[in-house]
Amino acid sequence: MGQVLAVISGKGGTGKTSVCAGVAGCLCMEGARVLCIDADLGLRNLDISLGMASEAGLTFLDVMRGGYTLDRAPRAAGLPGLQLLTAPVSVKADEIDRGAFEALIHDAKERYDWVLIDAPAGVGAGFELAIRFADELMVVCLADPASQRDAARAAELALSRRDVPARLVVNRVSPRLFQKMNATIDDIMDGVGLPLLGIVPDDADVTLAAVEGKPLCQYTFHGAGLACLHIAQRLQGKRVKLMKIRRTLAGM
Ligand SMILES: Nc1ncnc2c1ncn2[C@@H]1O[C@H](COP(=O)(O)OP(=O)(O)O)[C@@H](O)[C@H]1O
Ligand SMILES: [Mg+2]
Repeated sequence: MGQVLAVISGKGGTGKTSVCAGVAGCLCMEGARVLCIDADLGLRNLDISLGMASEAGLTFLDVMRGGYTLDRAPRAAGLPGLQLLTAPVSVKADEIDRGAFEALIHDAKERYDWVLIDAPAGVGAGFELAIRFADELMVVCLADPASQRDAARAAELALSRRDVPARLVVNRVSPRLFQKMNATIDDIMDGVGLPLLGIVPDDADVTLAAVEGKPLCQYTFHGAGLACLHIAQRLQGKRVKLMKIRRTLAGM
């Protein structure tokens, strides 16, 4: 049975979608069969981060309604083990049939090693849908206090619904910012109240990969790309040392 990993943060713009796509690509490169589901109804963009903007036509609603099987979900170029179901744009999350969504997730767990669900910002109906059948939560936050508070609140809410492991990814880490804040990664973990799954450096390659229409793992093996690989390996139970964020990565 596959594992369902919901990627949440509460706040928008923390890098949920970028990290979700980065980790999905790396899980696939590690040999796993991966299904990504964009649960950001109305504002989908996981396809862009996966380099699949032109082929992402099939929504999870299309499969739930029985018109298509999961085999029909588009595959990432160069990563045939990675498939995407995008989000419908004109349907609201509270209109999604929970039973049919559960059936879709159940089917996906039988076919894939990992099902990664990219949650929307906020803690509304889309968030509830994204976490509802999760086996594990990846909480993405930035170093700023507002992001930490929202991540803590989103995690608390999710854990009140699902008694599952939750781990933290601190994204866009820059040594200069941490130095100026006089803060450490431990402080962020304390602020959010979760154990650490990984840190991802602030790295222009995240944006540049999206601009070039490539998944991060096919664009770079350094910086954020390497950090996503480490996260993918830790998710699979491997022991990987925490990466050192060098000054060069922060453009210094
Ligand atoms: N590690 C990173 N380094 C640099 N830019 C990043 C990083 N992670 C995300 N970004 C950028 O931050 C913006 C928001 O990221 P996104 O993944 O869309 O966030 P969310 O899904 O949480 O709203 C995007 O422009 C993305 O390119
Ligand atoms: Mg997003």
